[in-house]
Amino acid sequence: MVHNAYDPQREIEKLFAHNRREKDGHAYTVPSPDSYPYQWFWDSCFHAIILSRFDIATAKAELRSLACWQFKNGMIPHMIYWERAPKSTFPTIRWGKRRTSSLIQPPMLAYAVWQVYKVDPDQRFLADMLPVIHRLHRFLLRQRDPRHNHLIGIINPDESGEDNSPRFDQALHLKSKQKIDANYKERLRLIEQFRQSHFVIKGRMDQAHWVRDVPINAIFAANLDVEADIAEELDDTGAAIAARRYALLVRNAMRHYMRDGYMLWSNLGLDYTPIEVKTWAIFSPLFAGILHKKEAEELVEKHLLNPKEFATPYGVPTVACDEPSFDPAGFWRGPVWIATNWFIYRGLKRYGFDEEAAKIADDSLKLIQLSGFREQYDPLTGEGYGARGFTWPGLILDMLEN
Ligand code: GLC
Repeated sequence: MVHNAYDPQREIEKLFAHNRREKDGHAYTVPSPDSYPYQWFWDSCFHAIILSRFDIATAKAELRSLACWQFKNGMIPHMIYWERAPKSTFPTIRWGKRRTSSLIQPPMLAYAVWQVYKVDPDQRFLADMLPVIHRLHRFLLRQRDPRHNHLIGIINPDESGEDNSPRFDQALHLKSKQKIDANYKERLRLIEQFRQSHFVIKGRMDQAHWVRDVPINAIFAANLDVEADIAEELDDTGAAIAARRYALLVRNAMRHYMRDGYMLWSNLGLDYTPIEVKTWAIFSPLFAGILHKKEAEELVEKHLLNPKEFATPYGVPTVACDEPSFDPAGFWRGPVWIATNWFIYRGLKRYGFDEEAAKIADDSLKLIQLSGFREQYDPLTGEGYGARGFTWPGLILDMLEN
């Protein structure tokens, strides 16, 4: 297949123009006009990273539009209905809040802001965003770490951004082979329970569903570090020291509570039961530099490059091929997603695994060329599944030149 003639940026610019929405003086991007016609938290962070490559003003607007929905307590909801989409295929969910969800998503905001600032050093933008990031991170430490052990917990699989991942089967009391509707029903039940608990976590929702998930904690540690970088850039030494300290505490807690050799497992409930399901999450600690070099080498060699697990014809599946739950066409249960590829790519680069990272970039591009801008791709055949006109494959722009 010839990659060189294909210009992904031109296609991505067209896609983003098509998915752009404006409302009340704000602008945001919908992940997919048909399937996801609203604003989502970590999607917008990905969008800003992508847009920073070709339209910096729009990248800033995307993050500002997200920031304006921050609650008084610092939370930014994972989903925002700016307006009712005309012919939505997305089910209307009662999240318990007016026009937004009551759940979180992995806190990628600081990373996205910093990425934008690195392209365009606009101090005003940075100074406006630092308090937003600071309040969001303090909210997570306050509300999602009620026992002060420096790991944040999630109360619904949707908060991981990987709604149907088999990492949550045990918490949902579901078997590894399951119907998509059964999974959905359980997640809706948790939303209702959260609403009825008046959104109280400690002693209420953390009894119903409490997963200290590896990717969200790795992403949090990385973003706390970026908060410190931003504060340093703005000469706010006190804020920088505090954020750096929290980043270290989260990293140490991840090693303490999650590590088994070179592997980190998410854990469940107040007794920290490890969830030993091999998903792409085992590579997410690389993104935040949590493993030592030797540990990382073993992880990459034994799992990423293992054809029985994660080395498939089209790159890194979200679930290892030898897991009982693996389904090459199942939602978050096997297919390749370009955002998970991107996290792994960034992690590999951090450790100097340049060749392995380049392979992921190459595989991602191959998938996009073969099947277009889709939500997920079959790791065995490359076929595209789920939403069309989906924005996340745009992250390829952040994998090609670095
Ligand atoms: C799906 C994904 C979630 C994403 C949303 C919008 O629910 O699992 O991560 O934010 O779609 O793209």
